[in-house]
Amino acid sequence: MAITIKSPREIELMRKSCRLLCEVHEELAKIIRPGISTKEIDRICEELIRSKGGIPNFLHYQGYPASVCVSVNEEVVHGIPREDHIIKEGDIVSLDTGLIYQGFHSDAARTHAVGQISAETQKLLDVTKQSFFEGVKMARAGNHLHDISNAIDAYVTPFGYGIVRDLVGHGIGTQMHEQPQIPNFAQRRRGPKLRAGMTLAIEPMINMGCADVEWMDDGWTVVSADHSPSAHYENTVLITDGEPEILTL
Ligand code: MF3
Ligand code: CO
Repeated sequence: MAITIKSPREIELMRKSCRLLCEVHEELAKIIRPGISTKEIDRICEELIRSKGGIPNFLHYQGYPASVCVSVNEEVVHGIPREDHIIKEGDIVSLDTGLIYQGFHSDAARTHAVGQISAETQKLLDVTKQSFFEGVKMARAGNHLHDISNAIDAYVTPFGYGIVRDLVGHGIGTQMHEQPQIPNFAQRRRGPKLRAGMTLAIEPMINMGCADVEWMDDGWTVVSADHSPSAHYENTVLITDGEPEILTL
């Protein structure tokens, strides 16, 4: 499958889908507190998505059982919400969720600090978020895809963090995962040329320690191999003839 170029009408629907998802994230940010279960976060997330006229795109995706991935501390991504997983003071909680609106997918992730966290962990969150913005600066028509990857790597690597390599960003549109794959680490090839009308989910996943990850026995939850804290930050982005448009902000 080639990289899809969205028409003006399709771009309008992507904008709408992403705007609704942005609202969902804003509401979720307010409910993250010590004592809430990750399952309760999922219930609220699904209700928010549906109340806005969206359909949760994660739910039942390849058998995934929830509307949001809730990944705590050393969990990198794809944490499955559970009744008996209770958020506590000092946790970092990555919420990754998406929705479908009139056939168009949106996808975004944020890592939240619960109460007081160490300066060291706060720095991981800040660097992960900023690495997205470093990457997105390169998300311009005429540049090449891997300019994004290289910019993320060049920013993150001096901090000594591990950039997750086993999971990558992706194109998005009428499917949650479209071409191209978007690595967050440096590439030797330039990759395809970026063109106006492409929509990309750019999503650095950064471990405080080593880059290696492992899958837990539930078949979904990805953890850092050394159990160091991990952060995730993702937005759906539109390539234009000028500045990139970050659709989920
Ligand atoms: N949001 C993830 C991504 O960016 C997809 C999660 S798949 C799910 O690719 F099944 F866990 F929902
Ligand atoms: Co994604």
